[in-house]
Amino acid sequence: MRATFFSQIIPLASVFLPGVLGLGGLPNKIYGVNLGSWLVLESWMLPQEWLDMGGQQCSDCSTCIATEFAFAQAYPDTVDKIFEGHWSSWFNQTDVDALVAARINTLGYWIIEALVDRTTEFYPRGGLDQLRRGLKQLQKAGIVAILDHHALPGVAAVNQQFSGKCTSTPAFYTDANYHRALIWTSVMTTLSHVDPAFANTVAIEAVNEPIMDASQTPGYGDFQKNFVKVVRATEFLLGVPTPGFGIPAPANGNFTAMLPNVDGSLFTDEVRSVLKDAFPILLRLGAVGLSKKKTQLVTNFMDINWQWNSPSNPADASIGPQGYDNHLYYVFGGVADANPDAYMTSICNLNRVQNDAVLGNSPLWFGEWGLPVQFNTTDDFLKQWADAQKLAYGQGAGWIFWNFKVEISDLAGDLAREWSYLEGVRRGYLTKDPSKYNDPNVCAPYIIHPSASASASASVTTFDTSSTSVSTTPASVIVSDSASTAASDSTSATVPTASA
Ligand SMILES: *[C@@H]1O[C@H](CO)[C@@H](O)[C@H](O)[C@H]1NC(C)=O
Ligand SMILES: *[C@@H]1O[C@H](CO)[C@@H](O)[C@H](O)[C@H]1NC(C)=O
Ligand SMILES: *[C@@H]1O[C@H](CO)[C@@H](O)[C@H](O)[C@H]1NC(C)=O
Repeated sequence: MRATFFSQIIPLASVFLPGVLGLGGLPNKIYGVNLGSWLVLESWMLPQEWLDMGGQQCSDCSTCIATEFAFAQAYPDTVDKIFEGHWSSWFNQTDVDALVAARINTLGYWIIEALVDRTTEFYPRGGLDQLRRGLKQLQKAGIVAILDHHALPGVAAVNQQFSGKCTSTPAFYTDANYHRALIWTSVMTTLSHVDPAFANTVAIEAVNEPIMDASQTPGYGDFQKNFVKVVRATEFLLGVPTPGFGIPAPANGNFTAMLPNVDGSLFTDEVRSVLKDAFPILLRLGAVGLSKKKTQLVTNFMDINWQWNSPSNPADASIGPQGYDNHLYYVFGGVADANPDAYMTSICNLNRVQNDAVLGNSPLWFGEWGLPVQFNTTDDFLKQWADAQKLAYGQGAGWIFWNFKVEISDLAGDLAREWSYLEGVRRGYLTKDPSKYNDPNVCAPYIIHPSASASASASVTTFDTSSTSVSTTPASVIVSDSASTAASDSTSATVPTASA
C-alpha cells in the first residue's frame, strides 16, 4: 500500500513548484505497503512455508537453499509449480480486501524470462501472469502500484535474500547487466502503457537498495540517466507526449520500424540498442501497440543520500515526473541508541526530507520502514513508534510499510508483531485509517527547537520549501545514520538477516 502525497515540491525543469498535485497519478500523500516476499521471495519472512516448499535456513544465506536462485537450481523440475503455489497464496484477494491504499510490487528481473541466461542463472517461471493477476485485483480495489526493480540481473547487493541470490560478489554493476536492466525497463514501461492489467501502474523504480558505498557501484550514475532515457524514449515511441522531445509520430508501436526515423537526445546508441533488444520480447509477450495511458510514468530512484562516497545524483537524470525513495530501519543499528527515548528523539527530529530537497531529491517518500526495534518493547511504545514514524515520513510524500504481512507460525515466533502491517493494525499499533494517528502529538516532548542546529524546521506537519535552504547537514552525515538493512545484516536465525 502506499499512500501518498505530494503536497510538497515537485521538481520540474529544475524549478520548484509548490503545489498539491499528485505526481503522475500517485496520490497526494502516499500510504502504502510493500508486497514483499511475493514475486521476490525472502525466506526469513515465511520460514515455515519455505521449509515446507523444500527450502533451508542457514545463518550465511549463500550456503544453503535460502533464495529463489538456490531453490530453482536445486529443484529444476518442480520449481515453477511450487512457486505458482506460493504466488497464489501469499498475495491473493483476501489480502487485497484487507488493504486500503496503494502498493508497491517488488520484482525480480527474471519476471521477464527472456532476460535469464538459463545456463548459469536459475529462477522460477510464470511470475508475469501472477503480476498481471495481482495488478488487476489491486485495480479493482482502486489501488495504484509502483513497480520496483528489486532484484537486478547479476545481483546488486551483498548476501541479501531480497536480491534473489545470496552472493558476496554482486555483478550488477557492469555494462552487460546494466543493459539487461534497461531492457527490463523498456519492457515494463511498454507493459505499463499497453497492457490493460497494468493500468494502475504509475511509477517504476530503477534499483532497490544499491550498495551504499558508491565507490563499489561504478557506472551507476550513467545507468540512472539511461534508465530515464529508456523510459521516455519508449513512451515517445508509444505515442506519449514527451515535453521537449517533439511531437510523437508513432506508426504502430513497431520499434524496429520507427527507430530509423527518430532522433534527438533521448535516442543515444545505448538507448537504441536497448529498444531493439526489447522489441522481440514485447512481440513474444503480445505487448505491442500504442499507449492507452498517454501520460508519463513517474521514474523513481533511491535518493542520493542512500549512498555515500560521492554518489551520483539521480536528480541529474530526471526528464519529466520523478520521485525519490529512502528506506529507514532503526533495528539494524547505527541510527539511534537502542532505547525508546533515543528512538523518539531521532525520529521526531528527522531531517531527511529537507536534506534531500536541498539536493533536488524531492518529492521523497519512505518506501520501506517498519516497527522493529533493538530492544524489548511494550505495546504502548509500539503505538508511539508507529505514530512518530508516520508523522516524520508524512513530512515528505508519504510512506510504504515493509511488509504487508509476514508469516504467522511457531517457527516465525513474534516476527509479525513488528514486521507486518496487517498484524500491526490488528494489534492497534497502526491506525485502521493510515492517515490517522493514535496520538498526533506524540512527538511534542521530543522536538528539539532549532537553535543549536542549523537544520530546517523539525515541524512534523508542514513542509516549507524555504526551510530547505538552511539545512547544512552534509550528505555523508545523513547516510551514516541510514541503517539500511543492506548495511548491517544480522545473522541470527530469528532476527531477519535481510531486510526488505
Ligand atoms: C488466499 O490464500 C490463503 C492462504 O494463504 C487462503 O487461506 C485464502 O482462502 C486465499 N483466498 C482466496 C480468495 O483465494
Ligand atoms: C516491424 O517493422 C519491421 C521493419 O519495417 C518489419 O520488418 C517487421 O515485420 C515489423 N514487425 C511487426 C511485428 O510489425
Ligand atoms: C528480551 O526479553 C527476553 C525474554 O524476557 C530476553 O531473553 C532477552 O534477552 C531480552 N532482550 C533484550 C534485548 O533485552
